[in-house]
Order: sequence, then structure tokens, then C-alpha cells
Amino acid sequence: TGAITLDPGYKNSGSCKSEITFLDGEEGILRYRGYAIEDLAEKANFLEVSYLVIFGELPTAQQLEQFENDIRKYTLVNEEMKNIIDGFPKTAHPMGVLSSLTSALTAFNPKVVNVENEKEMYDAVCKTMGKFLVLATWTFRKRSGFPLNYYDNTKGYVENFMRLMFELPTGPYAINPIVVNALDKLFILHADHEQNCSTSTVRMVGSSHAGLFASISAGVSALWGPLHGGANQAVLEMLEEIQKDGGDAEKALARAKDKNDPFRLMGFGHRVYKNFDPRAKIIKKAADEVLAELGVNDPILNIAKQLEEAALVDPYFVERKLYPNVDFYSGIIYRALGIPTDMFTVLFAIGRLPGWIAQWKEMRVNKEPIGRPRQVYVGAPLRPFKPMNER
Ligand code: CMC
Repeated sequence: TGAITLDPGYKNSGSCKSEITFLDGEEGILRYRGYAIEDLAEKANFLEVSYLVIFGELPTAQQLEQFENDIRKYTLVNEEMKNIIDGFPKTAHPMGVLSSLTSALTAFNPKVVNVENEKEMYDAVCKTMGKFLVLATWTFRKRSGFPLNYYDNTKGYVENFMRLMFELPTGPYAINPIVVNALDKLFILHADHEQNCSTSTVRMVGSSHAGLFASISAGVSALWGPLHGGANQAVLEMLEEIQKDGGDAEKALARAKDKNDPFRLMGFGHRVYKNFDPRAKIIKKAADEVLAELGVNDPILNIAKQLEEAALVDPYFVERKLYPNVDFYSGIIYRALGIPTDMFTVLFAIGRLPGWIAQWKEMRVNKEPIGRPRQVYVGAPLRPFKPMNER
């Protein structure tokens, strides 16, 4: 049936029709369900945006309250999950643990595998939003050796994230509204980004009618890679490395340009944005504000600024249209908020969760066919079988 069109990395292939996110890479435009990312980051909160992304409309006050209550109902995690957590070494990376725990949820919640009607879909959405947040923080508690925490129903979703992470048995955790507001904004900026690597993975796995938890677990694994969500951890490690090395941004730049060196400037470049990443613009401003509000003076931020300034006028970066992306500044804020570096990508996952859910739901509701790309075979032609003693 005709010749196969090769498109490695799907640079020019559309995999689906979608009503969720509009992205114009030339103009640097990002909208969820028609609303500008700048407006949402400024005026809405994360659960409101999650509702919008998943269900298509901004919630009324009553719908939002109901959504929050329904998520709360599902924040308890089966006690047997703790045995699984206990089995991991403390040195395990939180993203690996999170992917495994999300996958393990399928065993305890079989209904989420076979979503058959709207009510089951709604329950699956709330279950995922509730349990994933708790498990995400448990990956940190495990690796820190702290006892696991439980959701506090009197507190909001993002407040609970900070409590679940940092509250110790010695006393209540004082929630800093500056920190909660900053996190809320960061989660909103990450909430969806159309058919990126992890989202395409979620849709691809889900297209075989695998369940929501299994699909999201695969999405977590895809996000972990340093070319995708793992870049936020890699950016900070790179900046620390430059700092240790005497703070010479030019040297890092020279390495990034050297085609014989595998080093890339982490947090730079994007498959779709070829002018600027609108999320990076918002985050850069937020980073300045948050650091000022919290009174943090981080020399890493100065290195980041030097690196950015030097790259933006360097012909290598200019010609290739390489600009700072969302991950370039997010790590600096996370660090100022007291989030450990190896949890940065987990925070990306919490932010991206509504997007993964919305895309999975859209794919199922639209009854999309199983994902199955073709290939161009370039291997050996038919060969006679060689017995063992002749090889
Ligand atoms: N540093 C140095 N050179 C780069 C970089 C970089 N960060 N990014 C791209 N290039 C060069 C690349 O070597 C190639 O050069 P040439 O044409 O001479 O071979 C050219 O720019 C085009 O790059 P590409 O790899 O073909 O572009 P892509 O669309 O396949 O990759 C990317 C996009 C984001 C994976 C890549 O820019 C990259 O690796 N960036 C660093 C990792 C990063 O920050 N990732 C986060 C992305 S945004 C959030 C997210 O998705 O999670």
C-alpha cells in the first residue's frame, strides 16, 4: 500500500486532532482550551486550570468545590502500597519510584483500567489527581527516611503538596503563601503542552486500551529523560557544575557548540518554539519575584543570566533558534522554594498530570485507533539459516 513516509521524531506528523492545547511555535503562543497561558498563570489556580484542561470549560465556584472534594475522597492510598515503597533502595531516583508506584495503582484500582461511562471516567480522573500527588511526595519521604504523610482535608491541593513533602511528626508545617502561589503558577505553566514526548506516550499506551494508571506510568518514564522533563534537574546540575568550575559561562557555551562534545546547553532549545517559549518568559519574571520576596540571593541565578545573555547573541544559538525553555528557570525557583534537585522532574509530572489525563480522556472519548507507526526496513535481505556449528 504505497510508499511509507519517513519522519523520524515525528517532526512533521500530526498524530491526532485535539481541542485541548493551541501552540504556535513561531509566535510563541500557548493556550489551554482557548485561554492564554499568561491569563491563566496570573488569574487562575492549578485545580481550576486542571478542570479546564480535563473537562474543557473553566469551572463555576460550585464545580470547582465539588472537584476538590472529589479529589480529596481519593487521596488515601492502599496501605499495601507501602510494602512496595519499602522495597526500593533509598538511593532510587524519585521518578523511577513514581513510575513504578503509578503502575502499581492498577493492581489496587482495577476499575480505572476499564472506564466504561462518564461517571467512571470522572472517578478515574479524581482518583488519579488524588493518589498521584500523594505518591509523588512519598517518593521524597522514602528517600529522605521520613515517615509517610497523609493528605489534610482542611488544606488546598498545592498546600498539601508542601505539607506532604515537609511536615514532620515534630510539629505542623508552616505554609508560606509565597511558596504556594509560586508553585501554583509553575504547575499551571506545565499543565499541558499538546503532543510532546510524554503526552504522546500516554496516548500511545492508552490507544491499546491500557488503563489510565498504566498509561500515566509510561508518561512518567518518558518525562524523566534529560531531553524532556529531566532537563529541569539537568539545568541545575549544569549550573552548579559551571559554578564549581569558576563560573565561566563562555566555557560552557563553547562546549555546547562543539560537535565532538555530547554536552548540550540544558534548558535551551525546543522542538516547536523557534522564537521564544512563552512559559520561560513568565517563569523568568516569577523567578525574580520569588527570590526577591523570599530574600534569596542565589549566585546560580547570576550564572544562569550570564549564560542566557551570552547564548542569545551567539551565532550558533541564533542560527539554530535556540532559546531558553520552560526548564531553564523553573529549577531556580524550585531551589529557592527548598525543593531538592532530584524532585524537580517529579514536580513537572504533578503539573503535567491534568494534561496527560485530558489527552488520554480525549483519545478514549474520540475512539481513536491503536497507535501503530510504520517503518522503512533497511536490514538484511532473506538469508539461508546457518546451523550453530557454522557460525
Ligand atoms: N545545546 C546545544 N546545541 C543544541 C541544543 C542545546 N541545548 N539544542 C539543539 N541544539 C542544536 C543541535 O545540535 C542541532 O544542531 P545541528 O543542526 O548543527 O545538528 C540543532 O540545534 C537542532 O537540534 P535538534 O536536536 O535537531 O532539535 P530537536 O527539536 O530534535 O530537539 C530538544 C529539541 C529540546 C530536545 C533540544 O533542543 C535539546 O536537547 N535541548 C536540551 C534539553 C532541554 O532543555 N530539554 C527541555 C525541552 S522543553 C521542556 C520539555 O520538553 O520537557
